[in-house]
Amino acid sequence: MDNDWTERSLKAVWHPCTQMKSHEEVPLLALARGSGAYLYDHQGKSYLDSISSWWTNLFGHANPSINQAIKDQLDTLEHVMLAGVTHEPVIVLSERLSTLTNHQLGHAFYASDGASAVEIALKMSFHYWRNHGKSEKNQFICLQNSYHGETLGALSVTDIPIFTDAYSVLTRQPIIVPSPDFRLAKPGQSEDEHTSYCLQELEQLLQSNQALIAAMIIEPMVQCATGMAMYSAQYLKGLRALCDQYHIHLIADEIAVGCGRTGKFFACEHANIWPDLMTLSKGISGGYLPLSVVLCTDHIYDAFYADSSQKAFLHSHSFAGNPLACRAALASLDIYKQEHYLSKNLILAQQLNKAFEWTSQDHRIEHVRQLGTILAFDVKKDFIAQRFSQIFFSIGLDKGLLIRPIGNTVYVMPPYILNEEQTQFLGATVQTTLEATLAS
Ligand SMILES: Cc1ncc(COP(=O)(O)O)c(C=O)c1O
Repeated sequence: MDNDWTERSLKAVWHPCTQMKSHEEVPLLALARGSGAYLYDHQGKSYLDSISSWWTNLFGHANPSINQAIKDQLDTLEHVMLAGVTHEPVIVLSERLSTLTNHQLGHAFYASDGASAVEIALKMSFHYWRNHGKSEKNQFICLQNSYHGETLGALSVTDIPIFTDAYSVLTRQPIIVPSPDFRLAKPGQSEDEHTSYCLQELEQLLQSNQALIAAMIIEPMVQCATGMAMYSAQYLKGLRALCDQYHIHLIADEIAVGCGRTGKFFACEHANIWPDLMTLSKGISGGYLPLSVVLCTDHIYDAFYADSSQKAFLHSHSFAGNPLACRAALASLDIYKQEHYLSKNLILAQQLNKAFEWTSQDHRIEHVRQLGTILAFDVKKDFIAQRFSQIFFSIGLDKGLLIRPIGNTVYVMPPYILNEEQTQFLGATVQTTLEATLAS
């Protein structure tokens, strides 16, 4: 039965982020259902979802409260366009997001996927300057090794060759500045020194180019798809000050790090700063339905509020503010608040830390790092063979773990509902999977 599903999928479905031929060797996992932190195949074998299904699923699969909210909404209003029309779920969600930002980001613009939210934020920033008669401010800065999605607009602020190279003739080139990723510090340089160096390089660039730059986009605290590259909140503080001083917008892409993932609801809160524009997706709907949102300040919003339709922000998406997705998001926010996940996640973070204590004793491992419920380490390149991440993935599946290393970075980013026993299983199974991968 399982073979039948995988064969049919390989014939008919073109899977994302995949060289399809690799499935001649790497298994394709056909799933029948999900429940809590587990996914189940057609034989009933369980797999712990250690990466929350690409960082989306916060409160487990088939969560009863989110299921119920969607079912209620399904019988009420499944979808309606958002131009000229509004509805309760989108209004309440926008108000609640505004409240979560202390009303600093009080206007919500909707789409479905993260890359679209990134494009919307870039368009909004540029259009803001255009509405102020500064169309020459149309370039964007991103961090070295950054990832902000894979549509053409999002690729033009992404710096990961495997995603950008093939399409570079189709995209605009970003201005790339050094990443504060502490692993990139030069030998003998402390993390603080590296942070200062990155801010100095950025300031030099802004001194001569501010007139041409609309915005800088960053993932606050952790560059996730880069390989869980973590950096200091000092960088964010310095960055906020530089953006103010040199009159460029700060876009915080919280698509992966938002919604409680790093120990605060928004990762920007580690530095006590707010951006001008913020993107959210993935976990915002509890990982249930495609939903993304761009939040912005009054200041940005006001620049579009005019008699002329040319000044209006023109970006249309058929499913903007879909009521089902908004209800899933509201149910997720309820769980987060009512079940005290801000503090529960601090406990989960400690349990993860304990479950991965073994990493500090393993000479093949370096750069063990953690922020909130993201824990990562790098396997030294001398010890890994080709196809490390694929072999790790396959062995992980055999052991009942869904895990996908990024290059030589092994990381976990589990649903928040993981209990202590499951967390210990996770730490122990990553260890045995690593042993078996390195021995293969
Ligand atoms: C930080 C960040 N921005 C944008 C995106 C793109 O989101 P989507 O895959 O929904 O287009 C991702 C996806 O991984 C992401 O991690």
